[in-house]
Amino acid sequence: LREHEEFTKVKNIATIELGRYEIDTWYFSPFPPEYHDCTKLFFCEFCLNFMKRKEQLQRHMRKCDLKHPPGDEIYRNGTLSMFEVDGKKNKVYGQNLCYLAKLFLDHKTLYYDVDLFLFYVLCECDDRGCHMVGYFSKEKHSEESYNLACILTLPPYQRKGYGKFLIAFSYELSKKEAKVGTPERPLSDLGLLSYRGYWTRVLLDILKKHKGNISIKELSDMTAIKAEDILSTLQSLELIQYRKGQHVICADPKVLDRHLKAAGRGGLDVDVSKLIWTPYK
Ligand code: ACO
Ligand code: ZN
Repeated sequence: LREHEEFTKVKNIATIELGRYEIDTWYFSPFPPEYHDCTKLFFCEFCLNFMKRKEQLQRHMRKCDLKHPPGDEIYRNGTLSMFEVDGKKNKVYGQNLCYLAKLFLDHKTLYYDVDLFLFYVLCECDDRGCHMVGYFSKEKHSEESYNLACILTLPPYQRKGYGKFLIAFSYELSKKEAKVGTPERPLSDLGLLSYRGYWTRVLLDILKKHKGNISIKELSDMTAIKAEDILSTLQSLELIQYRKGQHVICADPKVLDRHLKAAGRGGLDVDVSKLIWTPYK
């Protein structure tokens, strides 16, 4: 999707260095004034502090003792780990992450108080440390039943299934909280594609198993997906009829199979037995 570059507004930072990657940025991010004269920034991949010069980063790397995000490792499966970072306990890390993420998020205002958020940072780990591939943020308390505020897969890791993994993870947390959830709006084009893909795959699998004999409420209870999101997904798949003032699911097995074939890859699965987590109090 090259149009990202066309839509880019005033872009101060054109590239960043992060771990072993040099990444071209997509959008403006409101870095503090002292960084306004630079076009490239050097990030420490572990604490996410950013610097103007490579030599500063090299000096920093010699004394930075982090090898993974701060906070608790709440999930580990093979080389994949998820860390939960409390924005109140790790304010600077939370702010750094927001500056970094805004470089790839257009419509989001990320200037909120990081205190109010938890950050779920997904990493690929090896003997050098845990390397961030993406993250999502979540309000500690959401009036609107949002279970995800912002989601990002860093560009070198995109289109490998990490986005759907992060989305699946956000719903697994909602299940543990015994709540339904929905992502904060608006969604970006790529955000909507990823959510639509996730919702479609999850709902089709259940409909197939239950041969279509299931209600939207039951689907919502099983998946923690909000009823409105289920309805819009099934409507787009033309699996909903409106009868006697009610939306009913009409899942013809042939139609289900056709949709299942067309649905994207399942992506990386969340193994819930490896999630060790209790809801935020
Ligand atoms: N072109 C077309 N379709 C795409 C593309 C692309 N470049 N990237 C993702 N998709 C679609 C595909 O349908 C894909 O499923 P498939 O591979 O089975 O066909 C689906 O999205 C998900 O792909 P993943 O590999 O699981 O997702 P990825 O790791 O690439 O992350 C994400 C998706 C997080 C949206 C990523 O594109 C991103 O970080 N974008 C920039 C930030 C952003 O827009 N975030 C969402 C904002 S909305 C919000 O935060 C609430
Ligand atoms: Zn560091």
